[in-house]
Formats: sequence, C-alpha cells, structure tokens
Amino acid sequence: MSTAITDFRSAANEQELLELEKKYCSWGDTVHYLKPPKFFERAEGHYLYDREGTPYLDLQMWYSAASFGYANQRLNEALKNQVDKLPQLACQYLHSEKVELAAAIGRLNASKFSLDGRVHFNVGGAQAIEDSLKIVRNATGKSLVFAFMGGYHGRTLGASAITSSYRYRRRFGHFSDRAHFVPFPYCFRCPYGKKRETCELYCVDQFAKNFETEYNSFWDPKTGESEFAAFYVEPVQATGGYVIPPDGYFPALKKVLDERNILLVDDEIQMGFYRAGKFWAIENFDVAPDIIVFGKALTNGLNPLSGLWAREDLISPEVFPPGSTHSTFSSNPLGTAVGLEAVRMMEEEDYEALTRRKGAYFLAQLRELQRRYPKVIGDTDGIGLALRLEICHEDGFEPDRDLTDRMFAEGMKGDLDARGRKVGLVLDVGGYYKNVFTLAPCFDMTEEEIDISVELLEQLIRRCAPDRLSR
Ligand SMILES: Cc1ncc(COP(=O)(O)O)c(C=O)c1O
Repeated sequence: MSTAITDFRSAANEQELLELEKKYCSWGDTVHYLKPPKFFERAEGHYLYDREGTPYLDLQMWYSAASFGYANQRLNEALKNQVDKLPQLACQYLHSEKVELAAAIGRLNASKFSLDGRVHFNVGGAQAIEDSLKIVRNATGKSLVFAFMGGYHGRTLGASAITSSYRYRRRFGHFSDRAHFVPFPYCFRCPYGKKRETCELYCVDQFAKNFETEYNSFWDPKTGESEFAAFYVEPVQATGGYVIPPDGYFPALKKVLDERNILLVDDEIQMGFYRAGKFWAIENFDVAPDIIVFGKALTNGLNPLSGLWAREDLISPEVFPPGSTHSTFSSNPLGTAVGLEAVRMMEEEDYEALTRRKGAYFLAQLRELQRRYPKVIGDTDGIGLALRLEICHEDGFEPDRDLTDRMFAEGMKGDLDARGRKVGLVLDVGGYYKNVFTLAPCFDMTEEEIDISVELLEQLIRRCAPDRLSR
C-alpha cells in the first residue's frame, strides 16, 4: 500500500489542518463552540499550550477528567510502567491491578456506606451508565427510571434516554425507555418559584405526591409496587451548571425512594474523585446510594476507564452472571494500573481538606467579583473545587448567553495579561441557559494562581461588557 495516505508534510500549518478536519472528521463526535476550533499541542499542570507556544490557563481541566494536572508525573509513570510490563490483556484473564482497584473501591464504599458491593469496569462514562441500566433492569424486572431535568448521563442511546435534553434524542428515536424527568432543586431559579428560606422542600413534596393514589400512575397500592425501578441522580448537576442542591434535599428524597422501594443510582462521573470536596459528591448529602457510576478522573484522563460499584445483592454472580455485559477493553491493564495508582494517591494525600480549602478561597474571590460586577454575574456558588459563575443581564437574573459566549471566545484568543505574561483562559460553558461558567480547576493550583485566574476573569468582563462595569 502507498504511504501517501499518511503524508501530511503539506499540512504543517493550522489552516491546512483545518481544511483536512473539515473534509475528513465527523463533527458529530465533538462540539464546535469556537469557530474555527482551536488546536493545542502540549499540556502540563493546569496549562494547555497552542501551536505557537502560548499558555492557556485551564479552569475546566477536561470537564474534571484531569483534576490532578495534565501530565501528572506519578500517574504518567504508572502508565509507562504498565506499557512495559503488561500493556494488553484480554479481559477474560485476570491481572492484579484490576482486582486491587476493584477491592480498593469496594473497601472504600464499605467504610463510607457500610455496604458490601462489587465493581464492574467499562470504558467511557456513558457505557458505564448503560451497564448500570442493565443491572437495574436485571435486579428489578422493571425498565422505567426517574432522572433530573438538567441532568446529563452521556450520549449512547440508553444514556441519552435518561438525559433530559430532547435535543440529544430528537434525531435518533427511542431504544431505551425515556426517563420520567423530575425538577432538580436549582434554588437560584427554583422551578416552583419558591425561596429556599421558606419553601420547606416543596419540591420533594411534589415528587412524593406522585405516589399518593393509584390514579397518579406511579404506584400500585394493592401490590405496594412502583412502576419505576430507580432514580438516576447527579448529586451536584455538572453539565447542568454545577448546581448544588440545598441541605436536606437528598435525605428527604431518599426517604420517599425507600418507602417506594426505588433504587438510588448516583452518577459520579464528573463530580467523583474529590471534585466536590469528598471522594464521592453524594457524601456531602448524607445518603447511601445503591449504585455509583464513575469515570473521567479515575485515570486522570489518561485512559478512558469507567465503571460502577453496586450493592452486593444487585450484582453478585448469582444475579448478574459472567458475560452479562462486557467490552473488549472493559478492565484493560493500562487503565486499571493508572486507576489504582490514582486511588493510592488519593489515599495518601488529604484531598478532602485540600479541595475544601482551595475551593473556599476561590469561591470567596468569585463572590467578591460578583459584588464588584453585579450587572454581569447573577450567581456564584461552589462545593469543593466545583464552582459556578452565572452570567446574567443587568438585572442579575435574566441569563445572558450571548455575553457568556463572548467571554468564552475572548479567553481563547490567548492575549490576556497574567501579571506580565501573555496567556489565554480555558473555560467551560454549561447550565440550562448556557450562561454558566462551570469551573473545575486543577487540584494543584496555588492561592496565587487562583488570584491570577480571577484577575483573568475580570479582564474578560472588562473587555466584553464595558458598558456594565458600574454597580
Ligand atoms: C455526570 C456525567 N455523566 C455521564 C457522562 C458521560 O461520560 P462520557 O462522556 O465519558 O461518556 C458525563 C460526561 O460529561 C457526565 O458529566
């Protein structure tokens, strides 16, 4: 075969690469928020470097997949060692790293929730969500589940069916059962128009009402059975805009679920591994889940390993036998080796204290920024190092998507001033109205670097909303 198909010497410049991308790459496997999309060449710590070598301070760390820093030396070494030792192995054979990683997560959850369980691996978050749907269906014999409005669980057919955006399903029809979507307690924009100080968790009461009589269609009082098998939750909504539920919400919701024998499935794909100040975000809210689904930062983004932990009675080999659902790459040795090293690292360092301390420092600065620019920032909040900045019109409430987009694009120009150094700023936009900067900074950032990040955000405000600087 001719080697001409890989001859790209003529494509040395970005323009030519963009032409190739336009012709040969599916645009369906990514998003094109920037026009044209940006190339990067190198990554280290919390900086991405473009083809000219300009550094971009990253405040989203690959949607929290690379929380421990790009090119983290310790985790890179774990990967390299495994490449030299046992790089490939069919999953039907065992290797120690898989077993030890599963045991570590099993022990951790036993200590946190006093529950025995097992770990099941796959690649990519959505695939692990699919596996959890099979476990739920297999254990309960039911296929209907609840999920939150504003939730995001991935893009496979099953995961799309429990993700609230119709936009993600519209062109693909239905395969899995569509979830019944329940409003998330997004108190800044309460779906019921209430105020948290006085609402007494009205939203949980509304959910509970679904089961009040058989005519509400969720419950058969004669058999004492719900039509729904599980409730899929992100304890802190991620793509939905890093929305943090109020105190007391999850215990009240769990009480309803327990009364109706409905499982709680906890999607920790984005918020797990200390992003929200605890190993699992759900630990902030005093409830024990029946299934936990995880991915992203398990390998610091070095390998697309994902997985789930399920209570023993849902996943024991008697009920979920060998071959129930698997993939060629499911517990691949490279991913499990890095995952094991990452969990060791998380055991050795007090990431709970670290993420809480740095998160509180960062949030205080964001609140100060909001105080100075109330005609731009409507809401700031945070838990651990998951922080949100909601960009609004002058009234501080109406979402301003246009300004959010302009600030995002301005950061990607790469010409901000970081105390004399020319840099860019990488942000992620989320939220129901696409007007929220969801900040997932690197855990290694120092307080000085947090100060610089806030200064860069301020530069974006001053450049993009010059007419809204007064209080
Ligand atoms: C909470 C949550 N669940 C599921 C997914 C899907 O994971 P993946 O993109 O690895 O399929 C994501 C991805 O952003 C997510 O944030």
